Amino acid sequence: MEEHNGMDYKQQVVQALAAVLGDELTTDTINKLVEQPKSDDLGDYAFPTFALAKVRRMAPPKIAADIVAAIDQSQFDHVVAQGAYVNFFLDKVAFAQDTLTTIATQGSHYGDAQVGHGNVPIDMSSPNIAKPMSMGHLRSTVIGNSLAKILTKIGYTPIKINYLGDWGTQFGKLIVAYKKWGSEADVKANPIKHLLEYYVRFHKEAETQPELDDEARAWFKKLEDGDAEATKLWQWFRGESLKEFKRIYDVLGVDFDSFNGEAFMNDKMDPVIQELEDKHLLHESQGAEIVDLSKYDMNPALIRKSDGATLYMTRDLAAAIYRHNQYDFAQSLYVVGMEQKEHFEQLKAVLLEMGYDWANDIHHIPFGLITANGKKLSTRKGNVILLDKVLQEAVDLAQDQIAAKHPDLKHADAVAKAVGVGAVVFHDLKSERKDSFDFNLEEVVRFEGETGPYVQYTNARAHSILRKTDVQPDAHVQLTDDHAWPVLKQLAAFPDIVLRAANEYEPSVIAKYALRLAKSFNQYYAHTKVLVDDDELAGRLALVQSVTVVLSAALGLLGVQAPAAM
Ligand code: ARG
Repeated sequence: MEEHNGMDYKQQVVQALAAVLGDELTTDTINKLVEQPKSDDLGDYAFPTFALAKVRRMAPPKIAADIVAAIDQSQFDHVVAQGAYVNFFLDKVAFAQDTLTTIATQGSHYGDAQVGHGNVPIDMSSPNIAKPMSMGHLRSTVIGNSLAKILTKIGYTPIKINYLGDWGTQFGKLIVAYKKWGSEADVKANPIKHLLEYYVRFHKEAETQPELDDEARAWFKKLEDGDAEATKLWQWFRGESLKEFKRIYDVLGVDFDSFNGEAFMNDKMDPVIQELEDKHLLHESQGAEIVDLSKYDMNPALIRKSDGATLYMTRDLAAAIYRHNQYDFAQSLYVVGMEQKEHFEQLKAVLLEMGYDWANDIHHIPFGLITANGKKLSTRKGNVILLDKVLQEAVDLAQDQIAAKHPDLKHADAVAKAVGVGAVVFHDLKSERKDSFDFNLEEVVRFEGETGPYVQYTNARAHSILRKTDVQPDAHVQLTDDHAWPVLKQLAAFPDIVLRAANEYEPSVIAKYALRLAKSFNQYYAHTKVLVDDDELAGRLALVQSVTVVLSAALGLLGVQAPAAM
């Protein structure tokens, strides 16, 4: 792995092994095999010897013993064979000083790496105009936002694109419904509520009045042709909806580089359809135009309906090509629910058929569903979680807890907001992306257990220790306390954790790490009196300060605030 800082202990272990195993295993293989044992008494790193058993025709324990005899032990505290494993124990004094000085000098840049280069458009959030933002869109927003921060930390330039669902036949329906039953004042007062109402009413009435559908089609056609009245209504609906979405983005602290949504692709589809035709990829099937993908074992991609209307796929094709031309991307990410897996597979396949190798740099980053009381959420069935409400209730709950724990806290409102919102975001990011999870607000905002507030609270507690003394932290003071060791190891692991989260597009790697670090620090704090005036005080303060630096950095990568007091 790259040199992201001056203390890559894993590399020390790998190099020492490579010096004796160089003929049998590549450095790369050794790197993959070296692991961090679960328990400290099995060493800080361990090398399993099973991979050598075949080559050497020897029992693994014997191989482990041979390696220990041959290896240069001078840079380690000690190296021992235990069963099939070679266990490495690091020189604790050097490790502690290295770790703490590195964090003290690098500060918030600790863990930065230069492994990535170039632009990475991230398609994220992308809610649909005139409909409420769903929990799914929340997941896309917070996962995309966190990935943008993680990718920035390792050298990429993310471009956060909110690909709004602002085009399609539903806008014809909306215009018809508004003209028939709508009120300007209502839409202005509560746009999403009333637009959704019109839309729902349209569907109901269209059941008995099928001519409404014809009217809707006609209005959408007008919109596509640039009719002034249709365009004006569309712009208004879009603007009002966007205002409401932006309120939620403000609360979450998320911003975007682009709001180019589906409508932006309107004039960019014809050339793509032409190109598909020129490349003989477009076929007719039941009046519609499709790209055959049977050689990929996939359903055909629908490009144009029999009435000439374009589709979600058509717009995504144009968008993918536009992003390639516009950003010359290193990778192009789409943070979109798992249920659209096939859509993105088809999208890539069509681009490959068109001869675009860069389609291989497109990655769908899927995520699982959020359920409530074990049930799937559905706008139509009324089983909805309204985002606005969730965030407000979370802030209220945080307020109660803070009032109970810390009644005279300054800026209590701002802190409650950071804690409430942070709790919702953290909860979303701590489970693996692809997992579905059930949403339970009380559980989300608890100050104990595996929650955002727990991590925030641990960070604030560390800050408060530092506030209580005038003694300056000193990373060079030797720490002899055994309880400091697990904390130091967690601190040193951060750069690797960042890389892993980036490689797997997995913010939960960071969230789980933050929980581990917080837990080990709280254990340390339970055993050790930090503020006792002895020889090691400045060293302990350096440890505490490092914990604040790394916990804040980890929370920052998740898009969660880290208040210094709470
Ligand atoms: N608006 C879509 C939805 O809510 C998500 C768009 C995802 N991005 C994309 N490029 N298709 O389902």
